[in-house]
Amino acid sequence: MSAIVTAEDVSQVYEVRRGLFQKPLGLKAVKDASFVVEEGETLAIVGESGCGKSTLARMLTMIETPSDGNLTIDGVRISGDGAGDAKKLRSTVQIVFQNPYGALNPRQKVGAIIEEPLKINTSLSAAERRKKAENALSEVGLRPEHYGRYPHMFSGGQRQRIAIARAIILEPKILVLDEPVSALDVSIQAQILNLLADLQERLGLTYVFISHDLSVVKHVADRVMVMYLGRPVEIAPVDALYANPLHPYTRALLSATPATDPKSKGQRIKLSGELPSPFSPPPGCSFNPRCPYANERCRTELPLLTEHGPTRVACFAVEEGRLPAA
Ligand SMILES: Nc1ncnc2c1ncn2[C@@H]1O[C@H](COP(=O)(O)OP(=O)(O)OP(=O)(O)O)[C@@H](O)[C@H]1O
Ligand SMILES: [Mg+2]
Repeated sequence: MSAIVTAEDVSQVYEVRRGLFQKPLGLKAVKDASFVVEEGETLAIVGESGCGKSTLARMLTMIETPSDGNLTIDGVRISGDGAGDAKKLRSTVQIVFQNPYGALNPRQKVGAIIEEPLKINTSLSAAERRKKAENALSEVGLRPEHYGRYPHMFSGGQRQRIAIARAIILEPKILVLDEPVSALDVSIQAQILNLLADLQERLGLTYVFISHDLSVVKHVADRVMVMYLGRPVEIAPVDALYANPLHPYTRALLSATPATDPKSKGQRIKLSGELPSPFSPPPGCSFNPRCPYANERCRTELPLLTEHGPTRVACFAVEEGRLPAA
């Protein structure tokens, strides 16, 4: 396998003005994220609301440029040293959003919605576009006659199929799926997840799958990246993550999800305290105020990702061997 995405210390800072007469503050939505996405895999990104998942998605899809760090997609450096021409990648990465209601223009017919990327990025004729759109409809389990209908005539699951058809029409290599099933009923979720698995296999797609639902992630992911307050804190193959979660935050997330709680004798970790404000993250490890294993070092020094078997984890308790077995 080879990496199709490489992120080195990628950060995103937003200037936020909190009051009319106040100086804008820099909000670090993503901080020094370093990871790869292997070609053909599904990398899941998990973490609490506000930890930077969608910000990362917007950088991976080039909706936003990182404010710092090197991001390389499919061999093209799109930020940092020697940044190349991101235009080359316009068809390489596509995104599917959570909300199948908001993501589709209600005034456009399905055909026009799906063809829009072709209109913008190719010089295909109307007939060629239509053929591709009908093809995409059938790829996602819809029928050619749906071409002339409006989004409101479809159920939530069908609308998400339309969004997926639009995402694959340029024959991308990478799909970034930002909570693609969170807004759907559980029974419909399974259908969309099956469709995505099917498309991945048939089209050789690479997925970045963002979700807060750890039971979904367990089924779809090859590897999982756990984020906390803008930083990746644990990156592991899916089996390793669920069988032997290392970061205390990962353990807390898993023990909050009954279906994924490792059948362990280990104590449940309750997440106490609030998520700190991203404007004033605590010094040291961002998780230290909520961590049962935090010591003085954790309160002052920033842990970096280090290898621990198949897992990379940023935690001094793991590093120093003072973390109890899960
Ligand atoms: N355009 C923006 N301007 C200012 N701050 C932003 C902007 N977009 C995101 N943020 C802030 O950046 C942080 C990360 O937000 P992001 O949307 O990436 O989180 P998330 O992990 O996707 O959360 P959720 O699970 O709720 O979707 C949050 O503190 C958010 O308020
Ligand atoms: Mg989000």
